[in-house]
Amino acid sequence: MKQPIAIVGANGRLGRALLEECRRRGHPVAPLTRHDLDLAWSRRKIHEALESCRDSRLLLLAAGNTNVDVCEHEPETAEQLNCLAVEHIAQWCAANGTRLVNFSSDYVFDGEKDSPYREDDPAHPLSVYGRSKVDGEIATLEASPDNLVVRLQWLFGPGKPLATPDWAVALAVENDTLNIVGDRVGAPSYTRDIAAALEPLFFDPRATGILHLSNAGSCSWLEWARFCVECAADCGVPVRARNLTGVSMEDVFGDRATRPRYTVFSLEKYRDLTGREMPDWRGSVREYIRDFVAPRFL
Ligand SMILES: NC(=O)c1ccc[n+]([C@@H]2O[C@H](COP(=O)([O-])OP(=O)(O)OC[C@H]3O[C@@H](n4cnc5c(N)ncnc54)[C@H](OP(=O)(O)O)[C@@H]3O)[C@@H](O)[C@H]2O)c1
Repeated sequence: MKQPIAIVGANGRLGRALLEECRRRGHPVAPLTRHDLDLAWSRRKIHEALESCRDSRLLLLAAGNTNVDVCEHEPETAEQLNCLAVEHIAQWCAANGTRLVNFSSDYVFDGEKDSPYREDDPAHPLSVYGRSKVDGEIATLEASPDNLVVRLQWLFGPGKPLATPDWAVALAVENDTLNIVGDRVGAPSYTRDIAAALEPLFFDPRATGILHLSNAGSCSWLEWARFCVECAADCGVPVRARNLTGVSMEDVFGDRATRPRYTVFSLEKYRDLTGREMPDWRGSVREYIRDFVAPRFL
């Protein structure tokens, strides 16, 4: 019999993929949404809500305030949802003997490096969102040495069609030319690949501390968007924009939250733990466009 798992934020982009993966692998799973547990609640109310998953030996915390620009203007809410609530959940988990896996972000880095970020590179966030995620990491890891923080980046996947493959294809159908940020580099990451890659580590006692996870390879946002439009065209989507032009982050984000320029992750720790390679981002983007994006336009 597999160990029971709780998922907080089970209807988010990542939460859905984790839920799907748990069910596919036969884990008994307790999915919690904002209705069951609101991160804005008090410590007492959060602990009461968690009583419904007292049997769970693992809690995957995929909920949080993920809107970088909203966080910039509402720092108290960012800190409440991404750090204080994490602290409450981590305390409950430690008292209940439940391992906690929390998800963090490449926004913890300033993007000044020009080689892949390792787990032990110092965090230096440029935004309120990034700061709140660092604080959430600390709260997770201080509560128990069994806990794990998985840093992610550039997620796309079914359930929340707001990522680059979704909007780039939609804009390319409507417009002849597109201006896309060309000076930001990272690794597009398919939520289904992330969930599948993580499952073998759910109960692995060696997988503690911080872990970087993304699809393999890297690209600029412009290259990502170009590839998405090409894949959509290959699927028969009537795209008009064949001309995608690079613009700078400064042009696009102006006075919005500052984004790090370069955040490719080193996947060495993941490889050492599992002996596995992550799939290249291109194949996963192609699959997502074929299965979820193109059908909207055909
Ligand atoms: N998206 C990315 O590119 C990216 C990159 C790096 C790291 N991450 C991290 O990965 C994790 C998952 O991200 P995601 O892309 O799956 O985000 P998402 O689709 O925005 O999902 C966030 C989840 O949090 C829930 N939530 C928001 N406010 C809440 C509240 N007050 N109480 C309870 N639940 C609340 C949402 O519920 P509702 O649906 O009810 O709003 C949703 O289920 C986050 O920790 C994020 O920081 C994401």
